[in-house]
Amino acid sequence: MASKFDLIVINGVIVTATDVIPCCIGIKDGKIHTLAPAFTSEEVGDARIIDAEGAYVMPGGVDAHVHLCQDLKTGPHGLGGECADNFETGSRSAAAGGTTTMITFATQTRDESDRSLIKVVEAYNARAEATGSYIDYGFHIIIVRNDEDVLKVELPALVKDWGITSCKLFMTYESQRLTDSQLLDVMLASQKNDITTMIHAENGDMIQWLTEKLEDKGMVAPYYHALSRPPIVEMEATNRAIALAGLIQNPVLFVHIGSAIAATNVRNAQTQGMPIYAETCPQYLNLTYDDLQRFHSPTCFENSKHVCSPPPPPGTSDQDELYLGLLNGTFTIFSSDHCPFRYDSPHGKLTGVLEDPSSMKDEAPCEGEALQDLVKRKPGSFRFIPNGIPGVETRLPLLFSGGLATGRITAQKFVELTSTNPAKLYGLYPKKGALMPGSDADLVIWHPQKTFKSFRLINSMLHHNVDYTPYEGKEFVNWPRYTILRGKVIWAEGELTGKAYDGEYLKRGPSYFGKGASKRPIDSRKTATWLH
Ligand SMILES: *[C@@H]1O[C@H](CO)[C@@H](O)[C@H](O)[C@H]1NC(C)=O
Ligand SMILES: *[C@@H]1O[C@H](CO)[C@@H](O)[C@H](O)[C@H]1NC(C)=O
Repeated sequence: MASKFDLIVINGVIVTATDVIPCCIGIKDGKIHTLAPAFTSEEVGDARIIDAEGAYVMPGGVDAHVHLCQDLKTGPHGLGGECADNFETGSRSAAAGGTTTMITFATQTRDESDRSLIKVVEAYNARAEATGSYIDYGFHIIIVRNDEDVLKVELPALVKDWGITSCKLFMTYESQRLTDSQLLDVMLASQKNDITTMIHAENGDMIQWLTEKLEDKGMVAPYYHALSRPPIVEMEATNRAIALAGLIQNPVLFVHIGSAIAATNVRNAQTQGMPIYAETCPQYLNLTYDDLQRFHSPTCFENSKHVCSPPPPPGTSDQDELYLGLLNGTFTIFSSDHCPFRYDSPHGKLTGVLEDPSSMKDEAPCEGEALQDLVKRKPGSFRFIPNGIPGVETRLPLLFSGGLATGRITAQKFVELTSTNPAKLYGLYPKKGALMPGSDADLVIWHPQKTFKSFRLINSMLHHNVDYTPYEGKEFVNWPRYTILRGKVIWAEGELTGKAYDGEYLKRGPSYFGKGASKRPIDSRKTATWLH
């Protein structure tokens, strides 16, 4: 008999950002249609049935921080990092890890030809369309210049024509960082257009100064990357950016906060009622400085597999603090910061050897020499190692095993951080991040906990195009069993069942959180009230 549904999920424990209840879901035309304690046999009819067998059923993951198809071949030898994943490989990896929406970065460069943000977005969109995506996707725009004419004309067009309602700014990296006054220029333009400003907050001068001092002492192995960025570097930058944002009164999301002292700055700003939000990532809850010395010896180049910025925190007490921040609302979202570089590739982590002048001084790689042999002979330098690690597929499972299964966070908190809040913050709610009638039928269904056999991860289990995972050997107590995108099963029982063009581009609206409380009295000692 014809069902009024296309797909039905039974025997699930539905989790939303507020509730955990046993419930069935009826899906019609790619949308959530009905939530009910049970369906009658007429209602079920010929609909496809998925039996969740008592497992958690959650809105599909929304990963708001994913780098795909960005190349940064900037080194003296034209090497530099090349993003290992394109939209196809990155999105299939995401799907296999329970994520149904991702937001990636269209990136302006300082090149004159990159003045136009619209052109940047068009070119980036062409990369997405070239391969297609298994999951739905939207773009943030990275802005590295403050051209007044461009900001004035093009930001409104990006919002209107592309639904791009967030920009990302850098306080470090020579080729991307903005000065304080340039940050203020872009923040003000964003404020006028209801654009959320994302900030990579690390003090670029401190990093440069420390890097030179480390190099003077010959401390250049991958591990020392962490020492070039102690937590105070992030503490200073968040503090400064919060002051700048206060002047403008614009919403700011701090990306990838990795230190407890930076989280405290965020918390204090929130306590004062400012629209300040923060993101943290799996690497800050699961890795420490120890992981940067994991392979063979502290000076081994293979440790570059864990180099990302900011680095993982020094020890587990920092992780306890960050977990507290997840629990008490300091952190708004939990994203992967998937930034994939291959290890054994001249355009990946090994750039750290190939671009390093002292490594290259005496002799170039011998003809035909395997890169791995070269690494044995050459030390390389952390300064030249592309910063970033893969993690789009492991994001949800890591938080499940490390946070939910251990009781450090609740199931509702899990959904809030990994799906609902990113959808709200970036203008996708309640289409995404919710299980309300009319929401897209994006689901992640876990395995029933009782019958799942925990396992140790090896990289070949993953679906990215990267030749390693920083989480190799870690034990996982659950994994997404089904991933469903707008009613279509795209991952089931360990197999990809979706296709590269299943994903659609998402035009986003303004942040659901708004610009903050509008009737809050503004202190003119802290805010340039006359600006608005
Ligand atoms: C890291 O994740 C693994 C796998 O989920 C888990 O077993 C381990 O306890 C986590 N470690 C920390 C420090 O969170
Ligand atoms: C919440 O967590 C943060 C750490 O991220 C901490 O600094 C702050 O003191 C905590 N706030 C409360 C009220 O517990």
